Amino acid sequence: MYTEEEIREKIQAGRNFMKMPVVIDADYKTDQYLGKPQPPLFKDPVSDVRIPLPKEFAEVVRKNDFLDVINSRVSNRVYTEEPLTLKQLSYLLWCAQGVKGLRGKKYATLRTVPCGGARHQFELYLAVQFVEGLKPGYYHYLPQTHELELLSEDDGTMRDFLKESLAGQGWTVKASVTFYISMVAYRAEWRYGISSHRVALVDSGYISENIYLAATAADLGSCAIGAVRNQICDEKFGLDGVDEYIFLAHPVGTVRPEDHQKELDFYAFIKEFDK
Ligand SMILES: Cc1cc2nc3c(=O)[nH]c(=O)nc-3n(C[C@H](O)[C@H](O)[C@H](O)COP(=O)(O)O)c2cc1C
Repeated sequence: MYTEEEIREKIQAGRNFMKMPVVIDADYKTDQYLGKPQPPLFKDPVSDVRIPLPKEFAEVVRKNDFLDVINSRVSNRVYTEEPLTLKQLSYLLWCAQGVKGLRGKKYATLRTVPCGGARHQFELYLAVQFVEGLKPGYYHYLPQTHELELLSEDDGTMRDFLKESLAGQGWTVKASVTFYISMVAYRAEWRYGISSHRVALVDSGYISENIYLAATAADLGSCAIGAVRNQICDEKFGLDGVDEYIFLAHPVGTVRPEDHQKELDFYAFIKEFDK
C-alpha cells in the first residue's frame, strides 16, 4: 500500500517526466554529439527459421475510404478465432514498422510511421495463435528484410502467457496474433540522451494507431494494451529488461458485426455514470 505522501510524489514524478524538455541545457552532450559510434538500426536475427512475408496487400484492404477508416476505428476485444492470412499479418507488420528506405547509407531508417529523429527505437515481437502458414509460436519481425524469425514454438501455454502478460485480461486469449512492442533504449539515447524516453512514448503512439487503422481497413479488430507485465513479456522474448523491454501490446483478431453487443458489454460499468 502506498502512503498518501508516496502517491503525491509518484504523481509529481509522472508529471515531471511528461514535461522533460527535448532540448536541455547547452552543457549537456549526448553520445551522438560526443562522436560515439551509432548503435545498429536493427537487431540482428537470432534464429535460422525465417519466414519471408508477401508484400502484395491489394486484396487485404477492404475499406479504401480514408474518412470511413478513421470514423469506424474502435477498440475490439471480441475475436472469432478465425485465422488471419499471412498476407494480412504481413500488411499489419508493414503498416506498423515497414522500412521504406534509408536516410544516409546507415544513419536512419524511414518507415511507415514517423519517429522523433527517425531513431525507430522499437522492435516488434509476436505471439501467433491463428495465422495461416505459421506454426503457433513466438516470432520477431525483421523489418530490414520484411521477414519473421521464429523464436520458439508454442508449447501449449500461449493462452496462459497472453492472459498473464496482459495483466489478467482474459479476452486477449482469442487474438489471432498479439504484437508486443519493445524499446531498444540506446538507439534513441545515443541521439537524445536523457530526454529520449518521453519522446519514445509519443513515438510509439503512431505505431499503435497504424495498427488500429490498418486493422480497421482490413475488417480486423485490435486494441492497444498499456497494462502489460513487463517481466513476463521480457522473459518470453529473451529480452534483458534493462536495455530492451516490452512496454505496449496489441492483440489483433477476426471480428464480426454480430458481436457488437458483446463489445458494448465491456463498457457496461459506464451505466453507473448515467444515473
Ligand atoms: C495506450 C493505450 C492503452 C490501452 N490499454 C488498454 C488496456 O490495457 N485494456 C483495454 O481493454 N483497453 C485499453 N486501451 C483501449 C482504450 O480503452 C480505448 O481506446 C478507449 O476506451 C476508447 O475506445 P475506442 O478505442 O473504441 O475509441 C488502451 C488504449 C490506448 C491508446
